[in-house]
Amino acid sequence: MKKIAVKASKPYEVLIEQGIIKNCGKLISDVTKTRFAAIVTDDIVDSIYSDTVISSLEESGFRVVKFVFKNGEPSKCSETLNRIYDFLAENNITRSDCLIALGGGVVGDITGYAAATYLRGLGFIQIPTTLLAQIDSSVGGKTAIDLPCGKNLVGAFKQPELVICDPLTLKTLSPETVSDGMAEAIKYGMIRSSELFGIIASHSIENYFDVIDDIIFRCVSIKRDIVENDEFDKGERMLLNFGHTLGHAVESFYNYTKYTHGNAVAVGMHMITEQAVKHGDCEKSALEKLDAVISSYKLPLVTDAPVSELISLCSNDKKCESSNINAIICSDTGISSIRKMPFDEFRKYMEA
Ligand code: NAD
Ligand code: GLY
Repeated sequence: MKKIAVKASKPYEVLIEQGIIKNCGKLISDVTKTRFAAIVTDDIVDSIYSDTVISSLEESGFRVVKFVFKNGEPSKCSETLNRIYDFLAENNITRSDCLIALGGGVVGDITGYAAATYLRGLGFIQIPTTLLAQIDSSVGGKTAIDLPCGKNLVGAFKQPELVICDPLTLKTLSPETVSDGMAEAIKYGMIRSSELFGIIASHSIENYFDVIDDIIFRCVSIKRDIVENDEFDKGERMLLNFGHTLGHAVESFYNYTKYTHGNAVAVGMHMITEQAVKHGDCEKSALEKLDAVISSYKLPLVTDAPVSELISLCSNDKKCESSNINAIICSDTGISSIRKMPFDEFRKYMEA
């Protein structure tokens, strides 16, 4: 088993092993005194993994209740959150009990927010089942729900007690959902590790599973380092937004219907890096490598959305500070920096 210790304001471990989900009861019993657990999951994950998780918890002496909601981003909303609160109240969940998020980033984000807020804070365990959730959203404590006017607008920092990451669960994902997660893995390679980038680049959507444990371990290790330095997102953590400000603009331009998050991030990474090459801020060879790896994971490089409109949408991104934008620029694979630019300068940078 690979273990990554995260020394955030609350320390915890990320455990990575194929098949580990079958032992989750014992692992959870090691980090909590309660023997009452509430699982929150979506309908697809429920149909594949709940029985295994519940059996393992019951074998370790837990009483288990379960809340299931419809899969997909539209469920990450106040209506589902209120239903989770009602469910916790109906089941007399107390502060010493724990919530278990079983699923992708949608389940993790909303369950984490419920755990941060119900009774002013419950214990919280993450069992991420998508690549994106295993390498990104389950680690670092960002939790949120969406509002009709924008994504992730209501949230809290809530570090989990434990993250149990079973790469075998990725075997049941659609190839499109794997590609989405791979966009984030490519991001980690670009911002911090040319070695990780090389491992991803020497594989493709067809054979990525041969190196999946290593990819997850390296991505989580990078996220751990960044979160330990900047848990509350005031500086270095912004590097994780490489490709995201433009990516969010692409998602928003198409009303969250045409591009999934990972697909939009792939476009965003290509767009900013192409401009960085034009401005002499990035090696041309790095752009070529980035484009090749994006394509080999069946992710898009370009969008039909007009650049000028995407730039305007970037100003609505919650990562922007007043009239400035924190652009994340990679000068080569594995090397990134944050460049704070007035918004007008960013527009010129992108439209050059
Ligand atoms: P998701 O949770 O919607 O999962 C994608 C689809 O895969 C869903 O239909 C789900 O039912 C299905 N699924 C999940 N696990 C499965 C499995 N093992 N087998 C088969 N199907 C499975 O999407 P996601 O990409 O995991 O997460 C996206 C969300 O994560 C967004 O809401 C985004 O804002 C959030 N996010 C949060 C952070 C953070 O730091 N908190 C970081 C990045 C993204
Ligand atoms: N996914 C971005 C962050 O955790 O900061």
